[in-house]
Amino acid sequence: MDLDKDTINRLIQTAKQAMAKAYVPVSGFPVGAALLTDAGDIFEGCNTESIIAGLGVCAERSAVDHAVIHGVRNFTAVAVASTREQPLFPCGACRQYLSEFAQKGGVDPMVYAVGANGEIRAMRLSQLIPDSFGPCDME
Ligand code: THU
Repeated sequence: MDLDKDTINRLIQTAKQAMAKAYVPVSGFPVGAALLTDAGDIFEGCNTESIIAGLGVCAERSAVDHAVIHGVRNFTAVAVASTREQPLFPCGACRQYLSEFAQKGGVDPMVYAVGANGEIRAMRLSQLIPDSFGPCDME
């Protein structure tokens, strides 16, 4: 599905707003993410960290969990914002997490990464994690 510019901008703005809520006492590196559902709703997430090593959660997985607790598991697009100058695409763990839901939903979401410099890059999730393993492979 090709998204219109307004929707993409709304998704990116939501990811930026979510970034401002990040809890990052360890890294000081805030990240925000936003998921667009089939119905046009948006669920945002931010990274949260702990002073106990390994307890943190990335923004993208936070956004997925946010949708899931609201009964939503399908999404058609993802936006990620961070303070890095260049656009930041999801880390490996988040690519896997996102792809499991995408596989179940039968979609290949667009992932929009926005840099602090304003640059926006877009890639399909399948480009970020080709030949991924997911729940359908075990059915
Ligand atoms: N982080 C994310 O939230 N998403 C990514 O895609 C990359 C990294 C977070 C995890 C950690 O809280 C901080 O950025 C530094 O790695």
